[in-house]
Parts: sequence; structure tokens; C-alpha cells
Amino acid sequence: MMQMKTVGVVTTGGDAPGMNAAIRAVTRVATAKSLQVLGFERGWEGLLTNTFRHLTPRGVGGIIQLGGTMLHTARCPEFKTEEGLQKAVHTLNLNKIDGLVVIGGDGSFRGALDLSKRCETKMIGIPATIDNDVYGTDETIGFDTTVNTAVTEIDKIRDTAISHERIFIVEVMGRQRGFLALTVGLTVGAEIILVPEDHCELSEVVETLKENSRKGKKAGIVVAAEGCGKVIEIAQVIEEETGSEVRLSILGYAQRGGSPTARSRLLAILFAEKAVNLLCEGQGNRAVGLRNGEVTSIALEESTSGTKPLNKNLLKLADMLAT
Ligand code: F6P
Repeated sequence: MMQMKTVGVVTTGGDAPGMNAAIRAVTRVATAKSLQVLGFERGWEGLLTNTFRHLTPRGVGGIIQLGGTMLHTARCPEFKTEEGLQKAVHTLNLNKIDGLVVIGGDGSFRGALDLSKRCETKMIGIPATIDNDVYGTDETIGFDTTVNTAVTEIDKIRDTAISHERIFIVEVMGRQRGFLALTVGLTVGAEIILVPEDHCELSEVVETLKENSRKGKKAGIVVAAEGCGKVIEIAQVIEEETGSEVRLSILGYAQRGGSPTARSRLLAILFAEKAVNLLCEGQGNRAVGLRNGEVTSIALEESTSGTKPLNKNLLKLADMLAT
């Protein structure tokens, strides 16, 4: 078995609260095992341009509580080209990187898989995205923080909605998936949750809100996943058809920032330890994750080819509870 000496770390794609906690834990666990750690900057761009800094246990001090990523991140279209991938391979070889820990979402994992087919460096993916849409893990780093951020904001919106007897359409992030909208909607007691995985006719939404109004419930919260699109039109139709006052609130990028919750930090720590251990055992091209409460790993190939299912029973439960 090849002796692991140097490990690279990179955060790619959209940032997620807890990425810093993961960088810190990877660095400290790896250093404790006598490995050298290089942190590549600005996502894949750092591999394309050979831009990195040496990470030391002291150098990652004071970041566990910080949102964002100290290594920065970027969307990097060039990395998707053969030329870009070859530049990254060159950087990995130049710096004798035996293992690369890729902290990000499913797009980042696809990048790691592409790289793994072109070099000897062993890739390990750590799932970190506010969307929670990575196959093979029940939860991703950052999801819990974002859920809490959105819930805090929507609780405030509920106060003004009740005071004015208005209906609020609140758009949350999630890309093409509804994990965020579902968990947020359920935990704020939304009257309606709209997710891309479960098409809901607008006429049904209108009917539910009218029925609520007849029952004396004049205010309402509709949580819509950004993947459903057209929130402005949805708001207009609801206002016209229900006769209620409707307001639209797009929570936006505030959802991606902020200090990670204890849960996001804990996942970051446990995933990081697992990632370094896998590399030290000589394993590579795997994605770590949480399954039924256990930290585990699956092949990157499997992680990137699967589609994580949304628990639609929870939508029914949310409906039942929103009476
Ligand atoms: O994947 C995380 C995420 O915040 C999505 O929820 C959102 O659709 C997307 O990133 C926004 O990407 P960008 O930062 O490139 O605008």
C-alpha cells in the first residue's frame, strides 16, 4: 500500500456553513497522522492555477464557528473541459498530492470522479451543501444551519402575516430539489409547501387558501422551493384568485451564510475524520456520508449516479398538520 504523505483539501461549488469546521478537522486529523496538508484556493480554480497554502493546526485556529470557507470557492467552467482537468492533474502530480479531500456538493463530486479517472491521487468527497441533495448521505454539512436560518426568518414573517392577515409566498433555495423547502415548510408550520418533486396545481393552492380563509385563518405561509420557479406569477395568481393581500419574500443568499449550528459542525468533524481515515487505509474515490446515524462511505461513482429521494410522506404530514 502506498504511504500517504501529502493531502490536499478544496472547497468547491456553493459555500455551506460548516465548510470551515471541515477544513479545520481535516487539517488537524491529518497532521496528527503526520501528513502534510495543502489547501487549494477558490475551488477547482486553485488546482488549475496551482494556488494553495500550507494548512497547519494553528493556521486553522478560530474558524470552527465561521460561515463560508477560508479557502474561498468559485464556479469554475474551465474545470469541466479536458484541458482544465489536465491542468488540475498536473498540479496534483507537481505537488505529489496522494489524497484530495473535496468538500462540496454533487457537482464537486462529479469533478472529483472525473479527476480520479485521470490520476493516481485518491479522491474523497465530503458532502457540504445547503441543498442536502447529495445521494448516499441523509444529511450534508450546512443543511441544518440553513434550515434554522430560514425558520428564524419565516417565524418573523409569520408575525407580520398574522398582523396584516396576509398570505406570504416565501422562496427558499435548493436548486432543483425540495429538501430545504420541505424541512423548512414542515418546521414553520407552512400552510402550503411547493417542491419540484411533487407538482401541485395552482388551483389546488388557491382552493386550500380560500378554505383556510372561510375557516377564519386569514394569514398564511406558502414555502416554495426555488426549483418550482415563477414565484412572482404564483403570488399574482394567488392574490387575484383568493382576494387576499399577498406578499412575496425571497430569502436569497442570507440562507448560505452565518455561523454553523452545532449539528453542522459535528457532521463536518465526523466526516473529516472519516475522510482522512479512509485515505490512511489506502482507500480512495469514495464519498463519506451519514446513513441511519452512522458515518459511512460509498463509491464516488455510486454517489454521483444516484438520485436522492424526497420523502413525500412528509408533504402529506405537513398538509395534515396545517389545518
Ligand atoms: O447549491 C447551493 C445553492 O445555494 C443553490 O441553493 C442555489 O440554487 C445555487 O447554489 C446558487 O448558486 P450561485 O452561488 O452560483 O448563484
